[in-house]
Amino acid sequence: MSAQILDGKLLAAQLKKQLKDVIEELHKDNKKVSVVSITVGNDPSTFSYLKSQKKAAEDLGIRYKEINFPITSRQDEVLNLINQIDQDSSIHGVIINKPLPAHIEDSILINRLDASKDIEGLGERNQGRLLLGKSSILPCTAAAALELLRFSGVVLKGKQAVVIGRSEIVGKPMALLLLKEDVTVTICHSKTENLPAMIQRADIVVAAIGKPLFVKGDWLKPGAIVIDVGINQQDGKIVGDVDFESCKEKASFITPVPGGVGPVTSVMLMKNVVEAFKNIL
Ligand SMILES: NC(=O)c1ccc[n+]([C@@H]2O[C@H](COP(=O)([O-])OP(=O)(O)OC[C@H]3O[C@@H](n4cnc5c(N)ncnc54)[C@H](OP(=O)(O)O)[C@@H]3O)[C@@H](O)[C@H]2O)c1
Repeated sequence: MSAQILDGKLLAAQLKKQLKDVIEELHKDNKKVSVVSITVGNDPSTFSYLKSQKKAAEDLGIRYKEINFPITSRQDEVLNLINQIDQDSSIHGVIINKPLPAHIEDSILINRLDASKDIEGLGERNQGRLLLGKSSILPCTAAAALELLRFSGVVLKGKQAVVIGRSEIVGKPMALLLLKEDVTVTICHSKTENLPAMIQRADIVVAAIGKPLFVKGDWLKPGAIVIDVGINQQDGKIVGDVDFESCKEKASFITPVPGGVGPVTSVMLMKNVVEAFKNIL
């Protein structure tokens, strides 16, 4: 068997088209959806993410502004900007890009931000709402992975999923989103014993580990759907957490890296800005 590819670029283009119609309607009142993206320092690992944020915003007609602080900036200087943005009704969403320098704590910045402008959905209030199944602003990488699963057309209800990774950004929100879809979810992590045996049971495997080509094809149940969230540099190339070549022979659907979860994530971020805009109307 060779898996069907879940093409993130294709899905992102379709989702962008739908979102563009919604934004055009919202802009009829002469208000403009607007987002600010904050960086501290110039870590090269954020460059491609910033580029895709900017492109997604521009394609959709969303006003996008990057604010860069020098790496030597103090935490209270960044917090001052966040306080100003919280008061500014013309800004609807804020992205706080990682990595931040060691002297700045991202959770302090995110939780200072008004929850309605936390379009990454990573602050405590939005994570709490997600836990209660009440959030309209979903952490965008997990939301993108869910969109790709839906894109497969497979009924998710009743399936068994293994999510590998338990980070606040990807693994935990992914598990909660799947649970809401009536999927039976197992979360695995670095202390999980016999990971291949856990994966063997899964109809859906979501890999968010940060280890190149980690998940092997012979661990998979035949016909599993594989969503690869990983972004790793290996031998000058970007690769996922899944060994694509061996997994595609066993899976029914699989996301490529690059071109899978990544392009959809930027659109989900912009979808969250639109949700934030609607919430204040
Ligand atoms: N596509 C996108 O838009 C996007 C967005 C965000 C992140 N990413 C990528 O997704 C990956 C994960 O990101 P993250 O922020 O969630 O990473 P993270 O915070 O480092 O979390 C990694 C998780 O993987 C688990 N893990 C590590 N080694 C393992 C092993 N040998 N077996 C099983 N589990 C293991 C860790 O377990 P413990 O908790 O026990 O340490 C942890 O829960 C990275 O490659 C990152 O670049 C992609």
